[in-house]
Amino acid sequence: MRKKIVAGNWKMNNDLNQTIDLINELKELKNIKDVSVMIAPAYPFLKTSHDLLEDSPIEVVSQNVHQKSNGAYTGEVSIEMLQSIGVSTTLIGHSERRAYFNESDDVLLAKTEFALDNNFNIIFCFGEELSDRKSKKHFEIVKIQLDNTVMKIKKESWKNIILAYEPVWAIGTGETASPEQAQEMHEFIRNCVENTFDKSISEEVSILYGGSVKPSNANEIFNKKDVDGGLIGGASLSAKDFKLIIEANSSL
Ligand code: 13P
Repeated sequence: MRKKIVAGNWKMNNDLNQTIDLINELKELKNIKDVSVMIAPAYPFLKTSHDLLEDSPIEVVSQNVHQKSNGAYTGEVSIEMLQSIGVSTTLIGHSERRAYFNESDDVLLAKTEFALDNNFNIIFCFGEELSDRKSKKHFEIVKIQLDNTVMKIKKESWKNIILAYEPVWAIGTGETASPEQAQEMHEFIRNCVENTFDKSISEEVSILYGGSVKPSNANEIFNKKDVDGGLIGGASLSAKDFKLIIEANSSL
């Protein structure tokens, strides 16, 4: 059965004390047995976060990683560094990395391959821009993003991949894809995975939706057949809202 997941991407928010306070509030969440919860704090606080959550099912994940094992790459962080503090999952391909740090599909493929070959799990993010949707090219663009990256990955590695569809026009804008828009895209993505690989892989991969998910809309989005959870930005910075979103994905 596919895993239900709710992941919080804290982006470049929260200092050390705010990070600790938010984690302590999230630790009070006890009864969610059927949803995997992940948080992605900023790099400097990953170890503290991981240590604070040692006895908790909440997993600490990284927002980014470099595609080389080590060397003269000032300002970058390697898989090995993350593994040495107990982190084993990273986001790759977030639209903010693509837009502000020029991460191309080629770079994202290199990051993806390197992470997966080194026993890392990835949450691979992708999604179309507003202009793509307006010109009805959203399916085409998403297919190209996937074909250039994760579709080139070895079949055996798919057990370590989570997909996150995040339409750029819905990120941080307050504008959410309707549950129907999310479902039709997630179904399309699952079909793409089936066509390139097979049904055993497409049925097993969790596909998260991201883009202005809030307590008020989470339930109807998560209820859609091919939506397995969410990647939450702004609302994950409030313990109260994030907990409500996690609860919205639980069927217990
Ligand atoms: P918002 O939930 O703030 O729209 O951000 C979504 C996102 O980018 C998560 O990675």
